[in-house]
Parts: sequence; C-alpha cells; structure tokens
Amino acid sequence: MKSAIVTGVSRGLGEALARALLAGGFAVAGIGRTSAAALSGPHYRFVACDLANTIAIDAALTPAFRAIDDARPDYLCLINNAATAGPVGTIGSLESEALAASMAANLVAPIAIANLFCRIFVEGTQVRRIINVSSGAADSPLPGGGPYSIAKAGLEMLTRQLAAENDAETFRAITVRPGVIDTGMQTFMRSQTPETLPSIELFKGFHRDHRLVAPDTVAVKIVDKLVLGDVEQGRTYNYSEL
Ligand SMILES: NC(=O)c1ccc[n+]([C@@H]2O[C@H](COP(=O)([O-])OP(=O)(O)OC[C@H]3O[C@@H](n4cnc5c(N)ncnc54)[C@H](OP(=O)(O)O)[C@@H]3O)[C@@H](O)[C@H]2O)c1
Repeated sequence: MKSAIVTGVSRGLGEALARALLAGGFAVAGIGRTSAAALSGPHYRFVACDLANTIAIDAALTPAFRAIDDARPDYLCLINNAATAGPVGTIGSLESEALAASMAANLVAPIAIANLFCRIFVEGTQVRRIINVSSGAADSPLPGGGPYSIAKAGLEMLTRQLAAENDAETFRAITVRPGVIDTGMQTFMRSQTPETLPSIELFKGFHRDHRLVAPDTVAVKIVDKLVLGDVEQGRTYNYSEL
C-alpha cells in the first residue's frame, strides 16, 4: 500500500495533488484548516490543523501519523505544500504579528511536520520521501514579497538538511518549484497595489500572457515524476523538468 500526507488541501495545488494521489491508488491524509469538498472516500482522511499555530502541530498530527505507521505502507510520501503569500509589503511596512504567522505556516510548520515524519516513520523496509513545495521566489527577491521568499529559501534548506542527515537508500528529500499555477495565490498577488507589491507587474504578466498552468496539470506531473519516479537526494526540481 502507498500512503501520502499532503498539507494545504482546501484548494489550489494541494487539493489537486490529493486528488491525483487518490486517483493513483494512494491512501491520502490531508492536513489543513479545511478540506476541499471534492476530497472524500474510504482512502482519504482529513486532519484539521492550523499550520500557523505551530505549537499545536505535534499533538494534532501524531495520532494520524501513528495510524499511518500502524498500517505499514510500503511507500510513504509527505508533501509540504501549504503556504501563504501574505503579508505582502516591503520591509519597513510589515506588522510583526502577520510576519510571524507567515513564517510559522511557510517555514516552521514544514520543519515541524518533517521532524514528526522522521521521528515516527523510522528507517525500515518502507520507502520514505519528503517533497517540499518551494518557488522560484526562494532565490529571486521580489519587492513586496519578502516574507514569502525568505521562508521559501529556508524551506529549501530544510530539504538539504534532511538530505545531509539521511543516507538510507529508502529515503529521499527533494524540493519542487512548481512554476506559475492558476490558483488563489496568484489572484491574491494580482489584487495588490503597486505600493504594497512593487513587483505586481510580474504577476499581472503571468495572467495576461496566459502563462498560468492549471493545478491539476501540475499535480499530475509532480505525482508521476517526483512521487513515483526516481529522484536525486536533496535536489531542487523546476517545473520545466517535470
Ligand atoms: N500558485 C503559484 O503560482 C505558485 C508558484 C510557486 C509556488 N507555489 C507553491 O505551491 C504551493 C501551493 O500553492 P497554491 O498556489 O495552491 O496556493 P493557494 O491556492 O493559496 O492554497 C494554499 C493552501 O495552503 C493552505 N494554508 C495556508 N495557510 C495555512 C495554514 N495556516 N494552515 C493550514 N493550511 C494553510 C490553504 O488553506 P486555507 O484555505 O485554509 O487558507 C490552501 O489549502 C505553495 O507552497 C506555494 O508557495 C505556488
């Protein structure tokens, strides 16, 4: 049996990933504040958790992770997908509380979930994989998009850290930069003002030039190439490689 854990399953890429995995015969545990109505069935379970509330993560997820371990899947994949693009604004204009919530959801939560994953799913016969969903913003600072970019840069270091600490042939940690996807996150960026997001034209251009890809298209490629295919330990995969 193959199992997957996906964060951020209310909409966007996370919902599409969960759907593609279920269609591929995986048992899927979706984690987030809410679950998309379309996700259901005997092989789907939802674990409610606000990932910005990082101190609650261990207690919220441990029972579900233990239940997955008890089912002894021969393949197990965690996809750290959930993220928020806000707060948007240049450094100097941000509120510390919003900044902390963004860092919690985008960076602390994926580390905490990977930590729990490595603690509970210990090395054995099963294949284990962690896929961190990053962005080109991880190494391209966009004026007004600092908190998101900084967190994604840290998330990519999580992949490298996991790779450095795990040399088992049965374990892989990778990063995916999934390209530009037609989701609420892009709508949110386009809805900003040039004052708060001086790089707004980039996002308007993605939309105007029809560069946004449907989440289902991206999800199927990620599942085929990065969940099911052979991957290189610690590597960052771009959309063009999927
Ligand atoms: N869209 C793009 O062009 C693009 C480009 C590069 C990378 N990415 C990356 O792709 C991934 C998916 O993005 P998307 O475009 O699908 O974004 P999206 O449509 O905005 O969806 C984000 C998901 O994350 C969840 N989430 C956010 N904050 C959360 C919290 N505190 N607790 C629990 N869940 C939370 C959301 O749940 P709620 O409904 O509860 O908010 C939602 O399910 C992200 O890692 C993003 O950085 C996207």
